[in-house]
Amino acid sequence: MSVPSATTSATPGIPRHIAIIMDGNGRWAARRRRPRVIGHRAGARAVNLCIDFCLERGVEALTLFAFSSENWGRPADEVGALMKLFLNALDREVDELHRRGARVRFIGDRSRFDAAITARMDAAESLTAGNARLALSIAASYGGRQDIAAAARALAVEVAEGRLSPADIDEAAIARHVTLADLPPPDLFIRTGGDLRISNFLLWQLAYTELWFTDRLWPDLDAATLQQALDDFAARERRFGLTGEQVAPTPATDTMAP
Ligand code: IPE
Ligand code: IPE
Ligand code: MG
Repeated sequence: MSVPSATTSATPGIPRHIAIIMDGNGRWAARRRRPRVIGHRAGARAVNLCIDFCLERGVEALTLFAFSSENWGRPADEVGALMKLFLNALDREVDELHRRGARVRFIGDRSRFDAAITARMDAAESLTAGNARLALSIAASYGGRQDIAAAARALAVEVAEGRLSPADIDEAAIARHVTLADLPPPDLFIRTGGDLRISNFLLWQLAYTELWFTDRLWPDLDAATLQQALDDFAARERRFGLTGEQVAPTPATDTMAP
């Protein structure tokens, strides 16, 4: 059996894939007695900081939770403002992301967005498809349960069409159908904003991800906080269900001598 390990990264101690819940925009604004949308606007700066950080450290994949399937239930004026910000960000940032070598993709239920947004999503994905420095996935209208349900539906279609036997539906088959199937699963999960929960983010993909939480609100994110997450990650022992002895590097025999 092959054991996935933290040392599979091109750079030892650096996660290959980081997944982030960008939370705390509303509270950031509330502390300044400003409307929530001001917090969302301020959060855009942190997105760029985070992308730069990953590019500098050689992180291969970054997945950002921008808008959940449940966030559609927020007040209409907040959802409307977020859609405007999203549209503006797509217009403003995509060329620069392309220049920086990011391959952009959007995960989630695209059918719920306006045509103006989906057209820009499609264009951003086509423009950046050939880039290889950073796989940047933006989770928008995304839910982990919906992701797993879509995988189950796709497998059911294969069975109904006689292309797959139910006996062949195993973990690998599901893993092939959930989003981000072409990437290594996240090594490190970061959530800002102080809440200790997953909030329906990548439920399948996070099975063995290292979780890291900070009270810092998303618009206040800085490189030192991200570095702290990386330092803590590098100090952790990932055991994947095995024992510490099984996964630890074997000590050189001379250090064992009395
Ligand atoms: C995260 O910030 C952004 C989105 C969910 C769109 P929030 O808007 O959830 O901010 P808080 O958690 O209310 O402070
Ligand atoms: C998770 O944050 C979703 C995003 C950051 C996009 P929420 O603010 O929606 O999560 P809960 O409601 O606190 O669990
Ligand atoms: Mg929140």
